Amino acid sequence: MRQIELRSDTQTKPTPEMRRAMYEAEVGDDVSGEDPTVNKLEEVSAQTLGKEAALFVTSGTMGNIVSVMTHVQRGDEILLEAQSHIYFYEVGGLAALAQAIPLLVQGRRFSILHPDDVKAAIRSPNIHYATPRLMCLENTHNRGGGTVMPPERMAELKQVAASKGMAVHLDGARVFNAAVALGVDVREITKHVDSVQVCLSKGLCAPVGSVVAGPKAFIEKARKNRKMLGGGMRQAGVIAAAGLVAITKMVSRLAEDHAKARTLAEGLANIRGIDVDLEAVHSNLVSYDVAGTGLSGAEYVEKLRLQGVRCGAQGPTRIRMVCHNDVSMDDIKETIRIADSVVSGRLT
Ligand SMILES: Cc1ncc(COP(=O)(O)O)c(C=O)c1O
Repeated sequence: MRQIELRSDTQTKPTPEMRRAMYEAEVGDDVSGEDPTVNKLEEVSAQTLGKEAALFVTSGTMGNIVSVMTHVQRGDEILLEAQSHIYFYEVGGLAALAQAIPLLVQGRRFSILHPDDVKAAIRSPNIHYATPRLMCLENTHNRGGGTVMPPERMAELKQVAASKGMAVHLDGARVFNAAVALGVDVREITKHVDSVQVCLSKGLCAPVGSVVAGPKAFIEKARKNRKMLGGGMRQAGVIAAAGLVAITKMVSRLAEDHAKARTLAEGLANIRGIDVDLEAVHSNLVSYDVAGTGLSGAEYVEKLRLQGVRCGAQGPTRIRMVCHNDVSMDDIKETIRIADSVVSGRLT
């Protein structure tokens, strides 16, 4: 049976154009800076993101930890939204590898941090306290349901951070989704942060890889940290070639994923027992609650799986579906039909 894969946009397969580019890629030893395709990807990424320099890394997790390690020193404090990916899903790397301490601040609606809450959380210098050194933002916000933080809010948060002597890093795994949702150039978002990590392997469909972008001196230091973590990749042009297609050709089509997510959310909202906050659907993710159906999240996921739809449970009754290049609008309509049948008991 064909599966409609809605667990994540990380499930996307490289496009035929990417596979051709990978086959034809010119390569060299990237650890010595001699891979022309990696160099090109780093140059294009820096330019696209409005930063001086960029670094190709294996994954979003590596991009974030390399950035964090580059910003902080042992014992420093890092402010993060309480549900942020860096805190929630990155294996405690900020403690284990960067030896920093997290300062969690709960976001408000859509998991968006409020400057007043951030100001209240950051303590004034004191001999007893860890030094607040870094603020991490996430846009779009994964556990928030793919929600978008407006650039104006990022500017306010950056101002708070700067007033406390803190740098700002953006976990921009899906920052191009945010830019497309807002209808702005991505630089309108990235100009409010010192460094940014962007995933090429989610909605942009590359098979592997992320980029970190920031000031030249920061990227030089980050390159050494990447090497320390074992992320020096030799003839990495083979995968950077797909990344180049991702960042140059795949951004504008993200709007199609957002349209699919909107159709999906509206269709699910019509099913009795399913609770979707339509105002929270900003990009390609749809997060919703199935408590009213009488099914647990795990039961709902399993019943849909048996009918050929893959999705994930984010909590006891919370479900996440992610739209991407490898699901069509017809797949979305079929998903709504199957969810309706499962919930109504017509399919078990
Ligand atoms: C917001 C966010 N940051 C970072 C990551 C980590 O990316 P990777 O899976 O490539 O390590 C993800 C992955 O889903 C994510 O959603």
